[in-house]
Amino acid sequence: MTRRPYSPSPSSPRPSKKPRIDHLTSDDFKDGVMLAPMVRSGVLPTRLFALKHGAKLVWAPEIVDKAILHSERVVDPITGVISYNGKSRAMFTTHPLEKPYLIYQIGSSDPSLAVQAAKMVLQDVSGIDLNCGCPKPFSTHSGMGAALLSTPDLLCSILTALRTELPPHITVSAKIRLLPNQEDTLKLVEKIVNTGISALTVHCRTRNQRMKERAVIERLKEIVEFVEGMGKGIAVIANGDCLSWEDAKRVRAITGAHSVMIATAAESNPTCFSPTPLVDIEKTLIPPYVQMCKYLGNFWANTKWSIIQFRGSLSTLKRTECIAIKDSLAKAKSYDDMNEFVGGQWDGEQVFQEIVEVIQARENTPLSLAVNVDEANENRDESVPLVTPPATQNPEPPGLWAPLAPANALRAPVPAMISRQDVVSPTPGDVVPLPS
Ligand SMILES: Cc1cc2nc3c(=O)[nH]c(=O)nc-3n(C[C@H](O)[C@H](O)[C@H](O)COP(=O)(O)O)c2cc1C
Repeated sequence: MTRRPYSPSPSSPRPSKKPRIDHLTSDDFKDGVMLAPMVRSGVLPTRLFALKHGAKLVWAPEIVDKAILHSERVVDPITGVISYNGKSRAMFTTHPLEKPYLIYQIGSSDPSLAVQAAKMVLQDVSGIDLNCGCPKPFSTHSGMGAALLSTPDLLCSILTALRTELPPHITVSAKIRLLPNQEDTLKLVEKIVNTGISALTVHCRTRNQRMKERAVIERLKEIVEFVEGMGKGIAVIANGDCLSWEDAKRVRAITGAHSVMIATAAESNPTCFSPTPLVDIEKTLIPPYVQMCKYLGNFWANTKWSIIQFRGSLSTLKRTECIAIKDSLAKAKSYDDMNEFVGGQWDGEQVFQEIVEVIQARENTPLSLAVNVDEANENRDESVPLVTPPATQNPEPPGLWAPLAPANALRAPVPAMISRQDVVSPTPGDVVPLPS
């Protein structure tokens, strides 16, 4: 099969009714369900599938400031894939298709390095996010990630530097965790909001909470009201234990957040942003995903790792069929070993073109995939309090009373080696070698 070079503006099947999105504003961070930053899992193919299936914006995985500084930007003339190549591996891979929706996340503890890192990728992204939530020692020992929660002046000086030095069409945002004490959290949020950011994501766990512990999303309500009271119009995005587009209504009803962000559930099924996510993913998702990964040159080991994470909540396939499929995937050593599984002759270009058409058609319609908060509130369990009771100092167990998200129930049986949810940090190491 001959491959056609990617054209940044190929003919769309639908006529353009609205102008293409120029740049993001705070409002674009509202009324949506977003793909969370995920090292290793949030790769380009996953982000494109998430966008195809309804994610409003997508966050790229955290990349430490220094890591991108010495990379070389290379564009594949056939696929259009843009790689920022380090010495032995691609540090960051993107595609012009996702640029209107792409937020690039930086790990940093230095305002000047953060600005330099952001400037490296500016031409390919719409926003820059600062990771203030990663609790892993490799991040915190150098003052990055969740360590910034304990150094609010440094945290805010990074955000201020980014906002001052970057052009106004690039949004600046931050992703934090809760502090143990609600009052301290509100003080921190006030400082952060005053730096001029467009959006704030709150992962509703504290630095010491493990992923298998329930996210304390009910604490967010007060924070959202506080931010709204500051009158700057910035978006607050709730993160923690949301399972799907449908479940985002529950999260919004409890938190009042403007949007909801999903990580783990999207790692299991990147179509979870749709009101009708794909089921029977072994047949409906994995074959096209593999095809697109091959077409875009995604490193095989990463593709294999990603598809092994995929899990459908509904399946009409027999258990034995699913096990047989997973077994054959586990044995595959390269894309060539996937030929029989995918079936027929394939190079992935057709799957990619379908995604191009769907994502480009989005540009002609309003971005919003609004979650109906009123409807969600009507169905809300009134026994669940929406504000943190006075004198509540610490959200950590025991004594939590937010409704148990179905996410936790689903998570329980997943072996720790696969789910990695028994570790304090959800962020695994990122190893994406360059294609040979
Ligand atoms: C595999 C994996 C990688 C992650 N990598 C990042 C990251 O690069 N940056 C970040 O801010 N959070 C990262 N996180 C945390 C998620 O973005 C999110 O805050 C957390 O998983 C809670 O959301 P959830 O309950 O929907 O999973 C990662 C999580 C997972 C599961």
